[in-house]
Amino acid sequence: MDHPSPHVLLFPLPIQSPINSMLQLAELFCLAGLQVTFLNTNHNQKLLLRYTNVESRFRQYPRFRFRTISDGLPEENPRSSVQFGELISSLQAVAEPFLREILIGSSSSSDGDTEAPLTCVIPDGLFYYAVDIGNEMGVPVIPFDTISPCCLWIYLCIPKLIQAGEIPFKGNDLDVLFENVAGMQGLLRRRDFPFYRLIDYATDPYCQIALKEVESIPQCNGLILNTFEDLDGPLLSLIRSHCPQTYATGPLHLHLKTKLADKRIPISASSNSLWEEDHSSIQWLDAQPIESVIYVSFGSMATLSKEEILEFWHGLVNSGIRFLWVMRSNLLRGEEMNHQFVKELAEGCKERAYIVSWAPQEKVLAHSAIGGFLTHSGWNSTMESIVQGKPMICWAVYVDQRVTSRFVGEVWKIGVDMKDTCDRYIIEKMVKDLMVTNRDEFKKSAEKLSILAKESVGEGGSSYNALECLVDDIKKLSR
Ligand code: UDX
Repeated sequence: MDHPSPHVLLFPLPIQSPINSMLQLAELFCLAGLQVTFLNTNHNQKLLLRYTNVESRFRQYPRFRFRTISDGLPEENPRSSVQFGELISSLQAVAEPFLREILIGSSSSSDGDTEAPLTCVIPDGLFYYAVDIGNEMGVPVIPFDTISPCCLWIYLCIPKLIQAGEIPFKGNDLDVLFENVAGMQGLLRRRDFPFYRLIDYATDPYCQIALKEVESIPQCNGLILNTFEDLDGPLLSLIRSHCPQTYATGPLHLHLKTKLADKRIPISASSNSLWEEDHSSIQWLDAQPIESVIYVSFGSMATLSKEEILEFWHGLVNSGIRFLWVMRSNLLRGEEMNHQFVKELAEGCKERAYIVSWAPQEKVLAHSAIGGFLTHSGWNSTMESIVQGKPMICWAVYVDQRVTSRFVGEVWKIGVDMKDTCDRYIIEKMVKDLMVTNRDEFKKSAEKLSILAKESVGEGGSSYNALECLVDDIKKLSR
């Protein structure tokens, strides 16, 4: 009897970080011989095609194709100031009927081709509704949770925290420790909690989405995470008590590079950026001494007030350490980044610093001139820094960043968690601490983790095996 050939639909959240890691997973699936459809929003697809070589890169995989849908927002909406919750719900209104249609097989691709039926859906973990739709249509669903596993584990504990009365918070003390998050006793404070301003979970939209995701997990055929056993082993065991088929396949960017090298496929400039990368940052780094520069970037969405930007700038300048800073056009909270403001900042530190609006981050972190990373603790940035063995200073803004930064400082001990007090003197001290005073200690633990990350994606490593197992399971589920 003929079985349908395995055909996977990948559907990322419409933001930079998940698009990066889902495209990496898509390419790994292509290398494993699966047919892959990547569902992107029209808006992000336009940016991706404008700023990357993704189209020509994926041309080598004839069984890969992009599909696009609207994100539900009007075309003229600039999106830079759209609230995340608003974007998620406007996309949901479009994605729900689209998923039903595409899973029935009644939707043909833009070029009119008839496609093999989809046999597995891999949505972002936050698209809990895709799980219901897959179950309704009899198509297996294996969500990919692109946030940090430490945050996912907290999400899974939310029902217990509500029951125990630990949330919503009573009183304003942010240093109160949680008692009902297994594996994090004595570690997790309210200020590290993803929704640290939580007053009422029933009205907090983010907490509500997280709760819906938690409810959907037992209905899934598995769960994909961008981590590796040696980093998150204890948490993975806890997560597996909710979802036994949890595949820890990361760090995905390194996994992909390793697989391409094994297959002797040239690793071209493999950016998935939604902004134009400024490669002059690499030329500037080429002229700096080894491990002398701290790289400063707050990811693709986090914003800072003008006062915070100035505190960081003064702290960095006063530290006397060289720095490379990514000042995105939407970094300033509530307003467009004023060109004159950035120019003045750049002018005031030009002997020892360089400012760009978007950098080729993986290349920057791999550069020998980089000695540390001042980061917002987004999960991709954290994994990219771990792979390169670069210690971090963490300025976490929201959601998983708040708990990831706690793990960087207290569990993995590969950096310091600055959290909540943005003060030039603290910044100066932390930069000196990371880059000079305690450099050897941080470097040693960061390099140790980097070695473990590399081993995990090598033949027989835990992430290598998890990916093989995932591909096998997708094939079995397709029968
Ligand atoms: C968002 C949330 O902020 C984060 O908490 C969550 O873990 C994932 O979603 P984002 O702000 O995009 O993430 O941060 P991060 O996960 O660090 O991803 C940013 C990506 O953009 C990285 O892969 C990084 O390499 C890339 N990047 C960033 C660049 O290529 N150039 C830059 O200048 C900055």
